[in-house]
Amino acid sequence: MAAPSRVVDLGCGSGELTATLAQRWPDATVTGIDSSAEMLEQAAGYAGPRLRFQLGDLVDYRPEPGTDVVVSNAAYQWVPGHDRILAEIADAIPAGGALAVQVPGNFSAPSHRIIGELVAEPRWQQATGGLRLRQDPVLEPEGYVRLLAGAGLSPDVWETSYQQVLAGPDAVLEWVKGTALRPVLEALRGNESGSGEPGAQQAEFLAELAPRLRAAYPERDFGTVFAFRRIFLVGHRD
Ligand SMILES: C[S@@+](CC[C@H](N)C(=O)[O-])C[C@H]1O[C@@H](n2cnc3c(N)ncnc32)[C@H](O)[C@@H]1O
Repeated sequence: MAAPSRVVDLGCGSGELTATLAQRWPDATVTGIDSSAEMLEQAAGYAGPRLRFQLGDLVDYRPEPGTDVVVSNAAYQWVPGHDRILAEIADAIPAGGALAVQVPGNFSAPSHRIIGELVAEPRWQQATGGLRLRQDPVLEPEGYVRLLAGAGLSPDVWETSYQQVLAGPDAVLEWVKGTALRPVLEALRGNESGSGEPGAQQAEFLAELAPRLRAAYPERDFGTVFAFRRIFLVGHRD
């Protein structure tokens, strides 16, 4: 879009990408929204007269009138019912506006399967209070084509599988700590409050997981190959 007046970045995290949107469209008002106060503290460093950040939950977010461009990178995979919510946001995009979203599409990757198998073992079911990992919340690309077209937007949807080479020992374990393992580590933390040494169960879980991930993703002399599939969807309204 040539010159939007209002741009929103949903699940903006620490704000780097939001800042690039403000640079790209210096006349627009750009708002980054995230549910993490910690992330927003980091993002505050980028704030300026036309770039602001606010606390909010993507479950409730719907665009204010006059919002031309809605962007979200790597956040809606955490939001239950995200396809219904994105369809409502797509409906609200005005003529000339656009919705652009990226979500990881790697829920069938070995890393997810291995974590799911370990969590399902009786010991870890007990320790996590019966945690059930989410089924794949992300649609296949064609689902997003239908979602955008259903809202009257021109869809442009594609996927890319990045063959990432990660450095260091247990590189895949380190990666999933910030992604797929988050709910497991939270469940174990919750269960440990007030009893035993904090973090002990998490450490035991990670020690059991590490060799399984190493077997599935062997470390080579150049690093560890970790394929990561991402799905991109862009919808424009003419
Ligand atoms: C992987 S980070 C991506 C951050 C940023 N978009 C980027 O690409 O650098 C995902 C972000 O989504 C946020 N998030 C997850 N669920 C959310 C929700 N329900 N509402 C708002 N933000 C959410 C997290 O706090 C986190 O900052």
